[in-house]
Parts: sequence; structure tokens; C-alpha cells
Amino acid sequence: MTEHPRSGYDALELIGELYDAVPAYNARNDVAFYVEESRLAGGETLEIGCGTGRVLLPIARTGMRITGIDESPRMLDRCRLRLEQEPESARACASLRQADMRNFHLGKTFALATIPFRPFQHLLRVDDQTAALHAIHRHLDPGGRLVFDVFNPDMRLLVKDRTAETEDTPETKLPDGRSFRRASRVIEVHPARQVSDVELIYYLTAGASEEVRLVHAFSMRWYWRYEVEHLLARCGFDLVMIYGNFDRSPLNEGSPEMIFVAERH
Ligand SMILES: C[S@@+](CC[C@H](N)C(=O)[O-])C[C@H]1O[C@@H](n2cnc3c(N)ncnc32)[C@H](O)[C@@H]1O
Repeated sequence: MTEHPRSGYDALELIGELYDAVPAYNARNDVAFYVEESRLAGGETLEIGCGTGRVLLPIARTGMRITGIDESPRMLDRCRLRLEQEPESARACASLRQADMRNFHLGKTFALATIPFRPFQHLLRVDDQTAALHAIHRHLDPGGRLVFDVFNPDMRLLVKDRTAETEDTPETKLPDGRSFRRASRVIEVHPARQVSDVELIYYLTAGASEEVRLVHAFSMRWYWRYEVEHLLARCGFDLVMIYGNFDRSPLNEGSPEMIFVAERH
């Protein structure tokens, strides 16, 4: 059995461009939610796993200060490039650092830490998760908040055979004129570890040239609601709220997300 990489973002040279072109990512309904959380915090935000800046850039555009960390140099390079294209007022509000959320030292504290769009699910083991939560705790002001989302696991989907490639993105153009389509599949599920091994498969073409198959392979940890509550309590956080979607509706069986709002004590 081949071990799947934990997050695998840096394996593809083109990962940033591909990520930014996926329509489903651009259509995600979380940006206004995270902008509002930064506004409510009234101080600087630390975004963990900021990727290419999908959420970070809209926050910087409003004039609020934000620091983004990510472990992937390729995702961060893309974020830097996008930031350079922003007006000076937004550029002045954002800073970026390469760091692993399990062990980072920025030498300052923040009013708010966020982990948008599931980077916390790339932490496969409990010691990874507690290391990240302790590192985040050290970077929060007293009373500072941690807000993050993970998907709400659907048990029927978890046990379904999803080993066949299923197209999730039809032919889509990249800014450089090339185009791609994307399929995904779940190679293996490990219920005892709550981990799924996933592949996102990009088929890239340039004009009449042959299609190139690029695979982003990674493992994802699913969480149950009460285990996250226990993790937070164990790492020095009080739970404030759990939402089931970015419209702030309560968590129920059919909710797509579990969004945790916690306060450091
Ligand atoms: C799905 S992307 C989300 C990016 C961005 N937050 C967004 O909403 O578009 C997941 C990101 O988490 C980052 N990541 C995964 N594990 C990480 C870790 N241990 N420390 C820091 N970043 C990590 C990946 O490099 C990737 O950029």
C-alpha cells in the first residue's frame, strides 16, 4: 500500500494556478463570513493555511491587518503574486510567512486566528492536532478567538465506494490559455484512523497537444463534532459556538460544515 501524503500541495508545480481556477472554490460561500469574523475581532487576524489568498485578499482589501501562514511554498508564491496585483492599501495590510501550523513562532499575538476551508483536516494524528492548537493558543491575545471549518461527515458517503474517477470540474480555462478538467476519487478509507486517501486528478491541455494527467494526492482526516469540542477544551479553548454553514445556521444532521468558534482562556 502506498502511503498518501498528508496534504501534497507542493507536489504539483502548477498547484496555485489550478487551485485558483477551480469554479467550486471560487463559488464557496465562506468569504463574507471570515471577513465579518475579522471585523468583529477588532484586531489583527492570523490566517492559518492561507493558500493562494482566496480569503486573505478580501480581508486585506477592507483595510484590516492579516498575517497568512501556509506550509506550501507554491501556494504562498501564488498568494504573493496575487497580492502584488492589489492596490498599495491592501498590500500594506497583509504579510505572509511559510510555516507549518503544528510548530510556528511569529513573535506576536493576534485578536483572531482562522483556518478557512479545511487545512485542519490535513492534520491526521491527535498529536498533530494538539500541537497546532497549542501553537495557535500561544499566538492569540487573552480572550482572542479561533474560528475554523471542517466538513460535517456524512456517514453514507464515507462508506460508499468512490474509487472510480468522477469528473467534478468540466473543461476550464487557465489564465495562460491552457485548459484543464478535473476528476476526483477516494482511493481508500481508514475508519479506525478517520482518514480518507483522496486524489484530485487534473487533465491539462495546451491547444492540440496531448493531455497531461497531474495527480494531487493527499489524506484527509474527518472529525466528529464532540471530538473537536474535546480537542479544544484540552488545548485551552472555550467553545463559543458551532455553526452548520456560513450563513450562521445551527449545526444539524444535514449541515455541510462544522464551523467552530472558540475563545482562548
Ligand atoms: C484547501 S487549501 C485552503 C486554502 C485557503 N485557506 C482557502 O480557503 O482557499 C488548504 C491549505 O492548507 C495548507 N496546509 C495544509 N497543511 C498545513 C500545515 N500543517 N500548516 C500550514 N498549512 C497547511 C495547504 O498548503 C493549503 O494551502
